[in-house]
Amino acid sequence: MLFEDKVSIVTGGASGIGKACALSLAENGAKVAVVDLNEKGAEETTSKILEKGSQAISIKIDISKSEDVDKAVDTVLKSFGKIDILVNCAGICQIRNFDDLTENEWDKMLSINLKGTFLMCQRVLKEMKKNRYGKIVNLGSLAGEVGGIYVGANYAASKAGVICLTKSIAKNAAPYNINVNSVSPGFINTEMTKDFGYDPKTVPLGRIGTPEEVADVILFLCSDASRYITGANIDVNGGVFMG
Ligand SMILES: NC(=O)c1ccc[n+]([C@@H]2O[C@H](COP(=O)([O-])OP(=O)(O)OC[C@H]3O[C@@H](n4cnc5c(N)ncnc54)[C@H](O)[C@@H]3O)[C@@H](O)[C@H]2O)c1
Repeated sequence: MLFEDKVSIVTGGASGIGKACALSLAENGAKVAVVDLNEKGAEETTSKILEKGSQAISIKIDISKSEDVDKAVDTVLKSFGKIDILVNCAGICQIRNFDDLTENEWDKMLSINLKGTFLMCQRVLKEMKKNRYGKIVNLGSLAGEVGGIYVGANYAASKAGVICLTKSIAKNAAPYNINVNSVSPGFINTEMTKDFGYDPKTVPLGRIGTPEEVADVILFLCSDASRYITGANIDVNGGVFMG
């Protein structure tokens, strides 16, 4: 199996793209730590994995708190002994007119989407560097490349930050045989976007994407088939933006 003996952490694994990644990694042989603030959702994803005979644990944390991130990594190491793969899907989004955007909303968005991704990467990299092996995939966004369409400037800025953070970490981690890339979805049908009213006619491929279609690309980046790709940002947007 593609990920036999590999240990993975998926943040945001309770829902949407993270859930699809957790299930798919497990189906392909990986042990999965499902990490999320939504404890019940994380447990549900974990149960689905265990039912199919694969190994998984669920861990409730807030990725924007460094003590929580330390706790999660310690738990994974105690349970599975190492970390090979980190997929950072946890995040929040907001529809907000720029004129109405508040300082608190700005801080909260950047704290979860950008700082949370930084904290997870920095802590997990310490472990990956010891083993001189690792794959990290962060979630950017179409909005982080072209500016917010449906979403607030705080969200778009946080995701532009994630894309550039990814390139910086990729340069730091490359000498240790660790690949670090981002994936930027366009309009994907998940809990996060259920009220957005995306118009499929604006998508060249003519439809909204599924979480599984993003997970497929993330799994490629978690596999050794992508071993010569690092610091890349891969668009998964049905052709809405061709960078
Ligand atoms: N759905 C889309 O169209 C789309 C487009 C571009 C980018 N993305 C990005 O993809 C990622 C996954 O999005 P999704 O659509 O699956 O969303 P989702 O809302 O279905 O899942 C996000 C998960 O993150 C968790 N989370 C939120 N804050 C957290 C925190 N502080 N600590 C731990 N967990 C936290 C939530 O509980 C939830 O389970 C996000 O980073 C999102 O910004 C999504």
